[in-house]
Amino acid sequence: MIPPSLPDAEKVDALRELIPATRAGIYLNAGTCGPIPAESQRAMDEQTARELVVGRAAPDLWPEALARAEEARASVAAVMVADPADIALTHSTTDGLNAVIASLPWRPGDRVLTTNHEHPGGLGPLLALRERLGVEVERVDVGDGGDPDRVVGAFASALQRPARAIVASHVLWTTGAVLPVGRLGELGRESGAITVIDGAQSAGAIPVALDELGVDAYAMPGQKWLLGPEGMGALWVRRQFAEATVPALAGYGSYAAFEFEAPRLHPGARRFEVAGFHRPSVVGFARSLGWLTMYVGVPWMQERAVRLARGTADRLAAIPGVTVVTPLPVQGTLVSFRIRGWTAAQALAEVAPRAMAVLRDLPAIDALRLSIGFWTTEAELDRVAAVVEHVARHTPETLPPRRIAVLGSDGRPID
Ligand SMILES: Cc1ncc(COP(=O)(O)O)c(C=O)c1O
Repeated sequence: MIPPSLPDAEKVDALRELIPATRAGIYLNAGTCGPIPAESQRAMDEQTARELVVGRAAPDLWPEALARAEEARASVAAVMVADPADIALTHSTTDGLNAVIASLPWRPGDRVLTTNHEHPGGLGPLLALRERLGVEVERVDVGDGGDPDRVVGAFASALQRPARAIVASHVLWTTGAVLPVGRLGELGRESGAITVIDGAQSAGAIPVALDELGVDAYAMPGQKWLLGPEGMGALWVRRQFAEATVPALAGYGSYAAFEFEAPRLHPGARRFEVAGFHRPSVVGFARSLGWLTMYVGVPWMQERAVRLARGTADRLAAIPGVTVVTPLPVQGTLVSFRIRGWTAAQALAEVAPRAMAVLRDLPAIDALRLSIGFWTTEAELDRVAAVVEHVARHTPETLPPRRIAVLGSDGRPID
């Protein structure tokens, strides 16, 4: 047990011991997939081992599977400040966005507003609507997303023509800007548009109270900032909206009772669940959420990660030749930047191995992106900044090649 009074540096060391992937390199890509706590992996392994021995088919195992799913919903609700009845389990952010977007009563010629920075996970469902039904998809230009008034103004002006929905990310996966989604929800309510939020880069990363946010639906991944397994996610749906909506996709997961003449959908968000889940992943997802809530501390982890991200952005911005793309001061846990004279792909190929770091490039905006978590240390960020500084002093043509050390049997480099 980690005593809550432990100073930060000791607490981080102790937590990193429990997240083995932090030892495999500098882990700066939770924006794609977070590192899994050993405890969650153990819980998944135990469930898998049990299934191998006792099977998965005995009817008396079903109530337990349902209880585990309920535990996962409640654990999401605890981190995201929501009522568990408003949470559905999904397989991913994209899955949750599709479930809601496809369930709106679209008609050919309807209009949907989104931003010019959406991930294919949020854009995909809209482009499919455009192809299938002729829905008009309009990308509202929010700049880099860093000016909340500009974002709200741009949507307000686009809403002068009616739209059925607003689909926007809470944190842009490109620039890392935090959008004023509560204010977009307000615009949506005033104009009769449903507001659907992509929470892929916000859920677990920054404080979010879904109960109070004022949007209609919010889709989240398990595998990123909530440190869960892949294949799990969650969807929050405002109660009244959920209960007024018949899901486009439905199955035994959606219904409380299958009376043929008068079927009853689950109340609340659960009607957006369709079928079953990989039980070890449900268990692992719940365990990661529980671990973050009970062991790490959600406010602590979010405050630390945003503070480190801010410091890193300021540090990178001070390096000659480096441009930080993330609007300052950084509000989330993503920091995107460019190095003059380098494409992002070229810079990634040098920075990642030289710093022994896992990060990514963003071809869409030609930038590198760091995802900074509570497990990240100041020393790791110093190392990355030093490597960026070194690379930025050169061009791809002048950068001295990396020396690859070959170690002899005595552990010393052989020239
Ligand atoms: C903003 C955003 N939306 C959606 C996704 C896709 O998430 P998922 O794999 O959970 O569907 C990502 C990242 O992969 C993302 O950054």
